[in-house]
Amino acid sequence: MENTALVITRYADVVAVLSDARFIVPPLAPADDEPPRSLAWLRRTVSRFSEGNDHERRRALVVEALDAMDPAHLRRRARVLAQDGGDPGEVACLVLGEALGVADPAALARAVPVAASGYLTGQGQDGSDEAVAVLAGLLGPGPDDVVAGRIAVLMQAYAATGALVRAVLRHGRRPEAQGRPVEDVIAETLRFDPPVPAMRRVATEDARLNGRAIAQGTLVTLDLRAANRDPDVFGDPGRFDPGRRERPHLTFGAGRRPCPGTGHALQLTAGVIEAVEHGTEAAR
Ligand code: HEM
Repeated sequence: MENTALVITRYADVVAVLSDARFIVPPLAPADDEPPRSLAWLRRTVSRFSEGNDHERRRALVVEALDAMDPAHLRRRARVLAQDGGDPGEVACLVLGEALGVADPAALARAVPVAASGYLTGQGQDGSDEAVAVLAGLLGPGPDDVVAGRIAVLMQAYAATGALVRAVLRHGRRPEAQGRPVEDVIAETLRFDPPVPAMRRVATEDARLNGRAIAQGTLVTLDLRAANRDPDVFGDPGRFDPGRRERPHLTFGAGRRPCPGTGHALQLTAGVIEAVEHGTEAAR
């Protein structure tokens, strides 16, 4: 089905593609036999790689689980757990795992990076199937959609939140960031240096975008780094400016299926940054 490739860089075009149901998430390759609770099972069962009714139902389950969490509590716990150092993506997953009722955080911390290594591509490091099975045990029991949805929360959070924290620590050293609230530095880092720099969609029919024809089957890459620096939307886009108040960046997506963990990601990131900068005082 995918026969040509196109990279989209304009802010308005990225929003148009993400809002248009003719552009779908690239379908997974067909598989006749996937072991239960394996990486392939996970990818086939989560909202992230689904479309239509499956996507709606699975996304709603994730949103329900996320809605049950208190963002301010996530921030406090991230600040406490980040005290011991360690990978910020792991801290985010430990906090989310705790909120999801996981009783063995050490097992969770071991399994998450291994399972996450293949979540987006399907090609995980050795042991990724076993790691998914461990996570299913820690986050079950329950129907497949529910258990996979809980694992998905950790998979989506791990690499992206870790990368965001590292970028915020880097950009936070800039003179423009000094004295700014951490929320503003995080927001501008998300625009300027997105931890997830691109998204992909496939055109299911012929379409037009900003006057240009897009043939059915075209694989469309949405370049979020470029769209976040579109001069039609952001003044002096190449300048890191935590004080800017223009339209929102596109790093959490837009349109039909934006990131449902945006608030959680922001609070977890702020908590880890506070731990690095100020320790736990006033956090408990
Ligand atoms: C800096 C951190 C994060 C960034 C930049 C980010 C960004 C994104 C983006 C762009 C998507 C849409 C992908 C697509 O449709 O192709 C997405 C999906 C998703 N994100 Fe996040 N995310 C972050 C953290 C989190 C966290 C902490 C959670 C959970 C607490 C989360 C949960 C999800 C889920 C469940 C989806 C799939 C939604 C669906 O398919 O309908 N994300 N994220």
